[in-house]
Amino acid sequence: MLIKKILITCCAAASLLGGAAQARDTLRVGTEPTFAPFEFMDTKTREFVGYDIDLIRAVADKAGYDIEVVNMGFDALIPGLAAGSVDVVAAGMTITPERAERVDFTKPYYTVGLSMIVKKEDAGRFPDFKSLANQPIGVQIGTTGADKARGIPGARVQTFNGTNEAFMALTVGHVSAVIHDRPVLSYFMKMQPRAAKNMKLQPVLEDSQQYGFAVRKGNAALLEKLNKGLDAVRAEGLDKKIHDKWFAQ
Ligand code: ARG
Repeated sequence: MLIKKILITCCAAASLLGGAAQARDTLRVGTEPTFAPFEFMDTKTREFVGYDIDLIRAVADKAGYDIEVVNMGFDALIPGLAAGSVDVVAAGMTITPERAERVDFTKPYYTVGLSMIVKKEDAGRFPDFKSLANQPIGVQIGTTGADKARGIPGARVQTFNGTNEAFMALTVGHVSAVIHDRPVLSYFMKMQPRAAKNMKLQPVLEDSQQYGFAVRKGNAALLEKLNKGLDAVRAEGLDKKIHDKWFAQ
């Protein structure tokens, strides 16, 4: 399952110490990178970046692994674990009872709630989730935001593969609101002021949810290593540093 990666030690010091080749396994980490600041593509370097990417890299490092990030649709992540095409999911994935039947989650690593953005001109009309009855609502496929939207009476839920497409649908008026995890909505409002110019993030915050990294159901060995890695990262305060890097601007 794991790809063996041979790291050739190339520096003189290592060979002096008698270090020949060192092997470290690589964890294949599945994510859906339209979820800034947790995971997104750096437009310049074309690398996967974000809070989750830094955190899983640090956790994997403590567990003795390198990582390789694999780009997937959000709804393909859990099937990807089952099929063995990735070893871990790091995708701002909320721990839910339904998902916990299909995968095993690490300890929670982040807590969020759901919120919504609307067009500025509609801010008075659509202050909260229940005001969205009978409205078209944009969500990302397979998310807890999609579940929330489906629970609103008469809502016409439009699912999009990426978060960006849902924002676009709001811009062009195909939907009245986008429901998603609040930190992602607020990062969008702050970091993309032009796109968000005519939008308003509503104060509503519901459904406290916790993110966990997921592994294939029954992969107890990897789960334990990741949980221990998470403890070690926390003990060193690395999680706080990573948090500051992505949230303290
Ligand atoms: N927390 C929400 C969920 O689990 C949304 C996650 C979306 N993540 C992503 N990488 N697009 O359903």
